[in-house]
Amino acid sequence: MSTIFRLDASIRLEGSVTRAVADTLESAITEELGDATVVRRDVGLDPVDPSVWGTAAFAGFTPEDARTPEQVEALATAAALADEVAGADALIFAVPLYNFGVSQHFKAWADLVTTDPRFGPGTETIKGRPAFLITARGGGYGEGTPRAGWDHATGWMRRYLEDVWGLDLDVIETELTLAEVTPQMAELRELAREQLAESHETARTSGRSVTLKLRSAA
Ligand SMILES: Cc1cc2nc3c(=O)[nH]c(=O)nc-3n(C[C@H](O)[C@H](O)[C@H](O)COP(=O)(O)O)c2cc1C
Repeated sequence: MSTIFRLDASIRLEGSVTRAVADTLESAITEELGDATVVRRDVGLDPVDPSVWGTAAFAGFTPEDARTPEQVEALATAAALADEVAGADALIFAVPLYNFGVSQHFKAWADLVTTDPRFGPGTETIKGRPAFLITARGGGYGEGTPRAGWDHATGWMRRYLEDVWGLDLDVIETELTLAEVTPQMAELRELAREQLAESHETARTSGRSVTLKLRSAA
């Protein structure tokens, strides 16, 4: 039986585009695999305590017999999060753009997982496993638009998931998600709907291709 790890970082449940596209992808994957278990981590609605990271980071440099109870606890928290990632055959990350940067909840989670020895420098723990990054942006950041280059999240997430953790990553992006509720963006609504429909379609197709990817990762 395959295990799918799914992380959500949207701070809302109602109307969340990343959650909706991730639902489409998750359904396609579970239908394709038949008997998959999905392990969910919702850092948007249930964030990890960011203060644990500092304690865990220094605990790693402290000899085991000299660690404080707080350090032991911080490392145990990191290990429990890392277990979820290490145990996954395929991974889904649904993370929106916030304030032109990386979701703090996703960053806090990734930082803490990275303190676990299995995810330290040069990690190969999940190397080559199929993974999907689903992201959504309220505005538009395409080449030639006034805010081209302002999305400082997707590049970092791609770098971390693909190059640092070595995942076989597909990125599914949706832009202009604020068009529906922003009067100044009214003329972009049609384009926004098309992009959203395309993202769901890509999610469906990607989900169906996961068996092939799992086979090549094995
Ligand atoms: C606090 C906050 C900050 C945001 N910052 C940006 C931003 O910098 N650029 C942008 O294009 N959209 C921004 N957005 C819009 C979100 O990226 C957009 O609504 C996206 O669809 C959120 O993902 P979700 O639909 O899964 O919740 C922001 C939204 C919130 C709530």
